[in-house]
Amino acid sequence: MCGIVGYIGKREVSPILLEGLARLEYRGYDSAGMAVQNGMGLKIRKKKGRVGDLVQHVKANPVVGHMGIAHTRWATHGPPTTANAHPHLDCTGEIAVVHNGIIENADTLRKLLRDRGHTFLTPTDTEVIAHLIEEAEGESLEERVRNALRVVEGAYGIAVISGEFRDRIVVARRGSPVLLGLGEDETFVASDPAAVVEHTRSVIYLEDGDIAVLTPDGYRILDHEGEDQARPTSAIDWDIASIELGGYAHFMQKEIFEQPESLRNTLRGRLMPEEGDARLLGLRLTDEEIRDIDRVLILGCGTSWHSGMVGRHFIETLAGIPVDVEYASEFRYHSPISLEGTLAVAISQSGETADTLEAMKAARDRGARVVGVVNAVGSTIAREAHGGIYLHAGPEVGVASTKAFTSQLAALLLMGLHLGRRRGLDREQGREVVNALAELPDLIERALKLDDEMARIALTFAEADNALYLGRGVSFPVALEGALKLKEVSYAHAEGYPAAELKHGPIALIDDDMPVVVVAPADHIFSKVVSNVQEVRARGGRILVITTEGNRDLASVADREVVVPRTHELLSPLLTVIPLQLLAYHIAVLRGCDVDRPRNLAKSVTVE
Ligand code: AGP
Repeated sequence: MCGIVGYIGKREVSPILLEGLARLEYRGYDSAGMAVQNGMGLKIRKKKGRVGDLVQHVKANPVVGHMGIAHTRWATHGPPTTANAHPHLDCTGEIAVVHNGIIENADTLRKLLRDRGHTFLTPTDTEVIAHLIEEAEGESLEERVRNALRVVEGAYGIAVISGEFRDRIVVARRGSPVLLGLGEDETFVASDPAAVVEHTRSVIYLEDGDIAVLTPDGYRILDHEGEDQARPTSAIDWDIASIELGGYAHFMQKEIFEQPESLRNTLRGRLMPEEGDARLLGLRLTDEEIRDIDRVLILGCGTSWHSGMVGRHFIETLAGIPVDVEYASEFRYHSPISLEGTLAVAISQSGETADTLEAMKAARDRGARVVGVVNAVGSTIAREAHGGIYLHAGPEVGVASTKAFTSQLAALLLMGLHLGRRRGLDREQGREVVNALAELPDLIERALKLDDEMARIALTFAEADNALYLGRGVSFPVALEGALKLKEVSYAHAEGYPAAELKHGPIALIDDDMPVVVVAPADHIFSKVVSNVQEVRARGGRILVITTEGNRDLASVADREVVVPRTHELLSPLLTVIPLQLLAYHIAVLRGCDVDRPRNLAKSVTVE
């Protein structure tokens, strides 16, 4: 949700900023802009639209310099226009700010500043920060930024340059991710390593409250009192190929096909075949603490919430612990009941989702022990958690989550196994799960061979504006995930339902044209699903069944049947979701949608 990049050094800044923005575009893509400092003062370039539009604008109106800041936007305050694009300036035009996050008291501050004579050109919350810095006292830019931020409520990652203090970029963080990239005689600032990995693998993740000062000589990190702080340097553990298309048409397609590999990476070093156990030292829970868990509470949003819904089955079945799964955004507003004895699991690909972050803090405040299931290393949720499991799925660029989902499921299975083995799950049962998990990457490879078939099926579904996805047990969240994938990338309306719920209302929607996708692996509730599918058949509907090899029981009622390899009953979601991802992808392409940057969305949702 909005991407920031900045550079100070000896090289020409414009190409570095524009390339950095292109790498961050998945975070927001309704407008973009940059501010460059050179001997002639601040030069601003902004454009409504994609980063590509800004690139053309800069080509026509070049700007030179060796330091600057830039931004790609996902609109919150004010529509996506060129004027509302960042950077925003103060009254003098001498202070330029780019910002990721939301200033919650922006309206109050704007009113106060107006009363003091400030003129605002936009309704954005970011412009308020520029005027606050203009008002603030201080000998240096960093002091003025620090004083300005004292009155700000909300979340921010900001970068500031000023015509008055020409040798520095000042950066501040509270609640929104900011990192420094350390190069030779050059320093970068970015909201995500993707923007800097081309130039350096050495990064520092700023902590909340940090203010960093970047100059041609290096950087300093200060706390809110202006005291120097030391922060550890981390190495980016993936390379640039992970964020390039590498021959694929879209990142979503690439990431769907990466799943055998991303899953291998999630499982690497964690399976204990002999013991029928999972090695999860990162959870930082003793055996005694695990035995004392009364309840598990899973928190997440979107796809991560769906993986939590599947994870519930894993943990309840393998560890015998009752599990609740909550939308992170709703959990915060529940009555504050004590969560002593609860293990809260925050699931997030990005590790920056504001709803999930706030929910995990609320759970912790009520006494829960909080662990994270996170993909982005060094992200806020990973750092706020007591312990956790990193997915190691590699960067996910496509806005529609695919490989993170299967890796989240694998991580939750490992968690179920680890908790279960400490609470009475016997070694043999554990071994069955471990063996099935070890086989999964190869089975996913086989499931991906369905690509051509799903492309053909997509041709018959592409024009439908509505679809129903049905499933039961572990397959119900898969149905939800299939429907979400279709909605977000193809803009077709799709609903996921527990198959048996259909007769309680949604069956009224079924006519001859309605596509109905049924996720029905051969498991212990398969026979019940058969009855539900018969109910649909009797009323029309174009039925596509996703089932497991060797199971022909729905062949006579389905219009199309797609089979995935057989696996342990609990693990079927990791396979049944593959054709659904492919289906959504192909339908979106046929409908001419922007697969990797669907309208109105952003990859990392850092506002509540
Ligand atoms: C999935 O395709 C989405 N774009 C979205 O629902 C996403 O899963 C959700 O915003 C949560 O993100 P997170 O996993 O980074 O927390």
